[in-house]
Amino acid sequence: MREVLAYLGLGANEGDRERNIRGALERLGAVPGVRVLRCSRLLPSEPVGGPPQGQFLNGVAELSTTLPPHALLAVCKALEAAAGRRLPAVRNQPRPLDLDLLLHGKERVDTRELVLPHPRMFERPFVLEPLRELGVDLSDWLSGRPHPGPARIVRESAEFAALCAQWIEGGCTVGLVPTMGALHRGHQSLMRIARGECDRVAATIFVNPLQFAAGEDFAAYPRDLERDRALCAEAGVDAIFAPDPAQMYGPGFCSNVAVGAAAEGMEGALRPAHFTGVATVVARLFALSRPHRAYFGRKDAQQVAVIRQLVQDLGFPLRLVECPIVREPDGLAMSSRNVYLGEDDRKASPVLYRALRTAQQAFAGGERDRDRLLAAARAVIGREPRAQLDYLELRSEGELRPLPAGPVAAGRMLVAARFAGGARPVRLLDNLSLPDVPDLQVPPAKAP
Ligand code: PAJ
Repeated sequence: MREVLAYLGLGANEGDRERNIRGALERLGAVPGVRVLRCSRLLPSEPVGGPPQGQFLNGVAELSTTLPPHALLAVCKALEAAAGRRLPAVRNQPRPLDLDLLLHGKERVDTRELVLPHPRMFERPFVLEPLRELGVDLSDWLSGRPHPGPARIVRESAEFAALCAQWIEGGCTVGLVPTMGALHRGHQSLMRIARGECDRVAATIFVNPLQFAAGEDFAAYPRDLERDRALCAEAGVDAIFAPDPAQMYGPGFCSNVAVGAAAEGMEGALRPAHFTGVATVVARLFALSRPHRAYFGRKDAQQVAVIRQLVQDLGFPLRLVECPIVREPDGLAMSSRNVYLGEDDRKASPVLYRALRTAQQAFAGGERDRDRLLAAARAVIGREPRAQLDYLELRSEGELRPLPAGPVAAGRMLVAARFAGGARPVRLLDNLSLPDVPDLQVPPAKAP
C-alpha cells in the first residue's frame, strides 16, 4: 500500500498520562510501515460519560503509514493493552491509554470494529482543537457528502442498499425499523431496542402510497423530516432511508405481495388493500437492506401477524422483533394520528385502553367466557358517545386466529374505533393480551 497520512486521537487519564502517551508514540514509530511525523500539544479535558474519574490529557498525532486501516487499528489496540488498558467493564471507564484512529487518508470505512472518519470526532473539541493546531483541513469531510454520523439521510434506494451491504460486509449486525415518519416515543422505543441489539440501525421513513386507499389520509399524513431526524438521532439511529415514491417503486413496478388469512378480518376487512400494500413495501425494504433483525410494534398487532407470515413464507433470513406498546400516561397508545384528535376526543380516547383493561381484569378475576369478556369491554366503550366502534375482537395470541365461542385459555383483545369530533376523523387502534403481558419493558442490554 502507498504511504498515506493518518491521524490518531491520543488520550490518557490513569497513571503518568504524558509518559503513557509519549511511550506509545515511540513504540508506534518503531512499527514497520509507520512513521510518527508530528504531535499536537497535549491538553487537559474533562471525561465524557462513564463513572467519576480524573481529567484526560488529549492530543492528536500525525502519522505517515503504509498499513491499511484495520492493521493500524490492531497496532493501536496492542499498544493500549501493553500500556495496561483493561477490557472495559463499563463504558468510558478510566484508561491509561486511549488511541482512536480518526482519519486514514481519504478512506471511508464502516465496519463493526472501525468507522472512518471517526464518527464522533466532529463533535469533540479535544480532537478538533489539536487537528486545527496541526493544520488539518477538514473541509472535505464537513461539506458535500454527509460524513458518517448520527441519523444521516439517504434518499436513493441504490445508496441505501449499498450502505447496508457495506455494513454487513464489515461484520455488523443490521437492525431495520420501518416507519412512516411523524415519529413519537413509540417509534423511538423500537429504535432504542434495535440500538441495544444491533451494531447498525437503519430507520426508514416512507409514507407508503400502496397501503392507503382512495379517500384515506395519504396526502394529509403528517410529514416533518427534520424533526424526525432529530428524534432518530436521539434514539441512536445510524441512517435514515427516506425515499421518494419513485425510488421505492420504479417505472413499471407492478408486483405485490398478498398475504392470506393473517390479513383477513379486522383492519383487513375495513381496509381491503392495506396489508397487501404493507407487505409489499416491507418486502421491498427487506430486499434492499437485508437486515439481521427487523423491529415492529405490537401496537399494530395484525400488521405484526402479517409480517411474521411474510417472513416465514418468503424465507427472509431475519429475526422479527416484536416491541411492546408505548402509551401516554393516561393509557392512550401513542400514534402519529393522535395529533389530529380534537380536545374532547383526546380526553375521551383513553376509553379504548380502559375497555381492554376491564376485560383483562375480568380475566384475572377468573372470567373465561369469550363473549362475556368482550361484553365487559364493549360496555365501557358504549358509555363513551365520542367513540364509534369499528370492531372489538378476542383472537389467539400471535397468529390472531378467531377464537370459538366458549372458554378461552389466553388471547389478545383488539379494538378499533373512530373519533370524529376534531379537524378530521381519526381511527385509533389498541390491543392487550389476556392474561396480562407487560406493555413496557426495559430494552435488553447490547451483547458485548
Ligand atoms: P408507522 O405507523 O409509522 O409505525 C412504524 C412502527 O412503529 C410500526 O411497527 C408500529 O407498530 C410502531 N409503533 C407505532 N406506534 C407505536 C407505539 N405506541 N408503541 C409501539 N410501537 C409503535 O406501521 C407503519 O408505520 C407502516 O405500516 C410500515 C410498517 C412502516 C409500512 O409502511
